[in-house]
Amino acid sequence: MRIVRSAAALASAAAALSLAACGSGDDPGPDPAVVAQGKQIFRYDTFGDESKWTDTLRMHEVIAAAVDPSTALSVGLKVDAQALPPAVVDGIRNGSIDLTSPDTTVALLELDAVVGLRGKVENVNGRKTLTRVGVTCALCHSTVDDSFAPGIGKRLDGWPNRDLNPGAIIALSPALDAGTRSVFNSWGKGKYDPRFNLDGINGPQVIPPAYGLAGVARITTTGDGDEIAYWNRYVAVTQMGGHGSFSDSRTGVDVRNGTDDLVTSKLPALQAYQLTLAAPTPPAGSFDAAAAARGKAVFEGSGTCASCHSGPEFTDASLRLHPAADVVSEPEPDGAPSWASRSATKQYRTAPLRGIWQHPPYFHNGSAPTLQAVVETYNAKKSLGLSAAEIADLVEYLKSL
Ligand code: HEC
Ligand code: HEC
Repeated sequence: MRIVRSAAALASAAAALSLAACGSGDDPGPDPAVVAQGKQIFRYDTFGDESKWTDTLRMHEVIAAAVDPSTALSVGLKVDAQALPPAVVDGIRNGSIDLTSPDTTVALLELDAVVGLRGKVENVNGRKTLTRVGVTCALCHSTVDDSFAPGIGKRLDGWPNRDLNPGAIIALSPALDAGTRSVFNSWGKGKYDPRFNLDGINGPQVIPPAYGLAGVARITTTGDGDEIAYWNRYVAVTQMGGHGSFSDSRTGVDVRNGTDDLVTSKLPALQAYQLTLAAPTPPAGSFDAAAAARGKAVFEGSGTCASCHSGPEFTDASLRLHPAADVVSEPEPDGAPSWASRSATKQYRTAPLRGIWQHPPYFHNGSAPTLQAVVETYNAKKSLGLSAAEIADLVEYLKSL
């Protein structure tokens, strides 16, 4: 029972009640206009991060000189087929558009067709020239459905881009020293270290989904934030290089970019949009329903999974976080220090499991390549004594979530 502290609060509570009474009594849900605005921000807003990607890293020069569309697709960049006019679609189909020319990349950027990249193309001495480039949230947290060609299709917002090699892309910058470049080149596909530029430690994380977060009480694998907006501000400012500020006394991170703030006012809409992104349901026929039903019993029984993966989102994050000793994904690969030790909480959040079929590899560090490997790891490290048949059933259950 909430305590109403003042007459004003009482009046507004009464107004809210009578508003609710006017409608069907159902939760009206988020304001569609705000959600639409948040989608635009998620896909297209750079928060002014051209300061980093253009002025500091000079990625516009690299792209214009060396990144033809074939190269871009090979480092996991995706093309939004819906942004392509019919003439371009035809040109790609009949081969008259040259996918081995960086000029084509510049043309695609001008069409706003490269997912997660924004370019400004201007006429310089009669030639279309990429003068500014920045990145958006969609770079890492959207992919496409490949409906046109591999890497080219309709956007899937919230799906992690596990083909993307952010380290290899950043390593193309001429502004880096050899040591930093070799760290970026060590990460590989689908991974990014969102703390390396602050603590100097190399321990890349799997890019997680940005869907399925409604009802998840703590944000990030270490539960650093109570709200998505906490981490959105962190990434927008400290990783993307957007204009604004982020500080957290728990980690000592204190970053300000520029003198203006292009982040704060966008956070509510951005979060509202993310909360509408549901985890994708498993494709028809992708799991054995009878085995999954048996696996559910293992999950809730001898597997002890449900002691942490509880509730509708399969996480106990609203109740507690877990010390590193509880997780089966440590020690970190390549001798890196514990990821939790680098975080604000020094602990781990039980991972929500909806849509888990969609995003291998698993665990924060990607140490389990498949769901089979996840279950085998738990079976060995927690001495569960599950039989091969129980393991197989449990895997089918996980595929069904
Ligand atoms: C360069 C790649 C990259 C970009 C760009 C990026 N992220 Fe992320 N994001 C990550 C990684 C890696 C993590 C994992 C961090 C962790 O859990 O500790 C993450 C975590 C998250 C999470 C936490 C998910 C969870 O399960 O709690 C959210 C939400 C998120 N990002 C949203 C955003 C938004 C919004 C933007 C744009 C403002 C953005 N990200 C930009 C790589 C990226
Ligand atoms: C002590 C609490 C606890 C128990 C018990 C537990 N988990 Fe987890 N689980 C976690 C935590 C914490 C994470 C996040 C670890 C990480 O990211 O490295 C996790 C991660 C996972 C992941 C990876 C999620 C992702 O997004 O990559 C899967 C799958 C999973 N658990 C399945 C299971 C299964 C199946 C069982 C039972 C055999 C189980 N868990 C038992 C706490 C638990």
